[in-house]
Amino acid sequence: MRNMQLLKTVLIAIAGAALMAGCKAGGDNPGREYAPNMYHSVAYEPLTQITDESAGTWVNALNNGRGEYFNSNKYNPNRMNMRAPAPYTVKRNKNGWLPYRIGKDSLEYAATIKSPLDSTAAIIAEGKALYTIYCNHCHGAKGEGDGKVATGVTVDGVDKGLVGGVANLKGDAYVNITEGHIFHVITWGRNLMQPHGSQIEPEDRWKIAKYVKTLQKK
Ligand code: HEC
Repeated sequence: MRNMQLLKTVLIAIAGAALMAGCKAGGDNPGREYAPNMYHSVAYEPLTQITDESAGTWVNALNNGRGEYFNSNKYNPNRMNMRAPAPYTVKRNKNGWLPYRIGKDSLEYAATIKSPLDSTAAIIAEGKALYTIYCNHCHGAKGEGDGKVATGVTVDGVDKGLVGGVANLKGDAYVNITEGHIFHVITWGRNLMQPHGSQIEPEDRWKIAKYVKTLQKK
């Protein structure tokens, strides 16, 4: 019985010592890690490199003479794998489009820009889905400026008021606007309408513009 008690005490002491041994963390030393595979990605990480070739040798399954956590990239010694873009280059999106840089006040010029998309049924259908998400509540399903928030919203019996002055896109003032014009208005907003450029990708803005043109003809 005494021996059991002793064994228990010794075991607790060993477990305690092991726990304490992990408490040396500080600076670049994470201390003892009990599930290291969860902290260290073997793949390249954009912002960090593990340059210590012996890090993780004890779990290594790679047999390349290095620790498993070593993920340094000799081509970029700045302890980062991500690289800055080459100077004077301009980011393009996946379609190869340059950023839209026509300023807010250049609507007249923007209106002359042709849509890069074809008028296929699939694109117009996508435009309709996007219009339903982003425009319907103000401009209405038919584009007549009679969406739910334009005609007044009541929540639980409380009148929340309405968004005033929503354009009837079938009105004389708007019926002939171009897709470029609509793209520009979605991007920058206009007068009472707020910009939607930060919410809607350029490609989706062109899709919506195409759908609005279809809607105006109905
Ligand atoms: C919160 C309400 C609201 C939402 C959402 C909204 N609009 Fe508008 N929109 C307005 C208002 C208000 C006007 C009138 C702006 C003015 O002239 O003061 C307007 C005007 C317009 C015009 C005419 C601009 C002009 O004078 O040439 C177009 C085109 C338009 N909206 C398209 C859209 C499209 C497409 C969407 C969806 C991406 C959208 N709007 C979402 C409120 C909204």
